[in-house]
Amino acid sequence: MLFKLTLPRIQASTVHNNNILLARSGYFSGIYLKYPLVRQRFGYFARIACKGPFTKNRSSPILVKLMLKSAKSIIEVRNLTKTYKGDVKAVQDVSFDVAEGEFFGFLGPNGAGKSTTMNMLVNLVKKTSGTVKIDGFEVSEHPDEVYKRVGFAMQEVGLDEVATAREMMQLHGRLYHMPAAEIEQRIKELLKLVELEKIADKFTSTYSGGMRRRFDLALSLIHKPKILFLDEPTQGLDPHARQLIWGHIRDLNKAGMTIFLTTHFMDEAEQLCERIAIMDKGKIVTEGSPKELMAKHNAANMEEVFLKTTGSNLANEEVNNNAADPYVRARR
Ligand SMILES: Nc1ncnc2c1ncn2[C@@H]1O[C@H](COP(=O)(O)OP(=O)(O)O)[C@@H](O)[C@H]1O
Ligand SMILES: [Mg+2]
Repeated sequence: MLFKLTLPRIQASTVHNNNILLARSGYFSGIYLKYPLVRQRFGYFARIACKGPFTKNRSSPILVKLMLKSAKSIIEVRNLTKTYKGDVKAVQDVSFDVAEGEFFGFLGPNGAGKSTTMNMLVNLVKKTSGTVKIDGFEVSEHPDEVYKRVGFAMQEVGLDEVATAREMMQLHGRLYHMPAAEIEQRIKELLKLVELEKIADKFTSTYSGGMRRRFDLALSLIHKPKILFLDEPTQGLDPHARQLIWGHIRDLNKAGMTIFLTTHFMDEAEQLCERIAIMDKGKIVTEGSPKELMAKHNAANMEEVFLKTTGSNLANEEVNNNAADPYVRARR
């Protein structure tokens, strides 16, 4: 369920940015967004971020920031399945949607199939069956259209150790056929964004773990992707470095980028994600906003939701020695 609005009436007062609708609750003959007809007509689903508590006094208009996003799912996954050699059923008949501009979290214990799913979404791992559409393009039929639209930072950062940040970014820009001047401009912007301007001309082998992650994030953004895929972007980082990454990702999402994130950190998921799917043994076991999930599973926090839905306690997890990530495999 993408849209649950408890307010009975919402008046559309301004639509701007094609996305954001400022609405007020009140007596007005507003559009009743619960009506399927209205939803259909506008082609939107809504997410509200309340700017204050609702009061019963409807006569004082309460400004509600109603963010309406295109109903078009920017990621559409249907019956996605991956069976590795040896009949390893890593992903089994998984279906879900991610809306444009959404911050979507993908959680699950080690070996659940998160990386396999994510890699299939960006066509790095070939799916066994099912369909994946990215911005309307089926990944296996139009991989180039998909690559243009997605940026990805995989589970293990694979940097060329004898290249500098600038050199790697230049190379990536060229791979996306970007003009040289635009590449230079992007390098400047992105290194500033992730606060790495100072190390632009140093070999990547000299970077700390946090720097590598931040640089990998910048690298994944060179071509201004619409969707950013992040596989455990804060794994192995200290709390300060994690906070830095969170801030950057949050800003990107605020600017309109769709984020697909897998993470092990429940606080990360709870704070950042608008909607979460939890995967276990290759299947999605539950899906919803953090609040919805906590209510549905009668849990005080996401950690409890996780424990209840997967029976898995993250603290006791062991390292997955057979991760789907190509970089992890390459290093074995
Ligand atoms: N290349 C591979 N060959 C065989 N099995 C694999 C491969 N990659 C992953 N797997 C298996 O698929 C399952 C899902 O792995 P993965 O997608 O990495 O899970 P997660 O990212 O949730 O930890 C695991 O059982 C893993 O051992
Ligand atoms: Mg993984």
